[in-house]
Amino acid sequence: MKSRRNVIEFFFLIISAGLVFIACPGKNSTEEKKNIILGFSQIGAESSWRICNTQSVLEEAERAGIQVIFDNAQQKQENQLKAIRSFIVYRVDVIAFVPIVETGWENVLQEAKEAGIPVIVVDREIDCDKSLYTGFLGEDTEEEGRNAARFLLSKFEASTENVNILEIAGTKNSSPTRLRGSGFRQVIGTQDRFSIIHSENADFLRSKGKQVADNFLEKNGGLVFGGRPIHAILSHNDAMTLGILEALEEHGINPGHDVAIVSFDAEQEAIDRLKMGKINCIVECNPKLGYELMKLVRMCAQGYPIPDGTFVKESVFSEKDNFSLIPDRGF
Ligand code: AHR
Repeated sequence: MKSRRNVIEFFFLIISAGLVFIACPGKNSTEEKKNIILGFSQIGAESSWRICNTQSVLEEAERAGIQVIFDNAQQKQENQLKAIRSFIVYRVDVIAFVPIVETGWENVLQEAKEAGIPVIVVDREIDCDKSLYTGFLGEDTEEEGRNAARFLLSKFEASTENVNILEIAGTKNSSPTRLRGSGFRQVIGTQDRFSIIHSENADFLRSKGKQVADNFLEKNGGLVFGGRPIHAILSHNDAMTLGILEALEEHGINPGHDVAIVSFDAEQEAIDRLKMGKINCIVECNPKLGYELMKLVRMCAQGYPIPDGTFVKESVFSEKDNFSLIPDRGF
């Protein structure tokens, strides 16, 4: 055990930084495993997806005998910066964090680098010099966007009419918002009759999804924009989609029939709406990153290089599927 980690310092940091010390080393840990300490900064608990993502990390850490100092940033980048700095002061072996937005990480990552602590970026990507962090683990959100567009192209392939799309995007300046948006645009851009005629952000939150959809419907007098009807809604996550469905139904609109609904994540509640015909397609976003993360943490802690990017497998659920074959999602 490194001498700098004395017990008094440890408890002082836990109390002063509001951090939560989560997992203990497993009984049968090997010599290499048992001293690894991971500092993990999560962005919050904005969706069932996010809660599952946190659980996956904490459960797999416990299983792997890796100690975790966990911080919930309550959707604020400044809280993440504070947490990462606390991890550096404590001299954890590895830092992992889910960046709420893409920019603004250079200084803190430089500090981690100078302290010799490897950093793994998890779930969301950052716009930053690659030499400042060790690697990325997460989902291919650009491909998710392409898959959403592929579904819409096939859904409307029998018609020759224009397809007008309303986009409700996630958090501004976050990588899933940018990449789902760009992947989607790459594919619909191949067909002139498909276009996004309006786009708004709703922060990946159910309450905001409902609020944005309500305002849109009231302001425009229904599902029209600039005199053009909306044929499809692209919503960047299930939490927002569930809020949008509520708003549509309150305005007498039948989602899935009057307007096509395409969503991301595949939470159980959204899969239930897919089965009811209220959502037409859900592109999976896989929250279960814990197992892969612990493998990478162990490699980093032992001084091995890790791949620049590690991407988890994902699929697509749609109205064309045999619903009886969709297993319980568990979140
Ligand atoms: O970064 C992944 C996204 O963040 C998920 O789609 C969403 O549910 C979460 O808020």
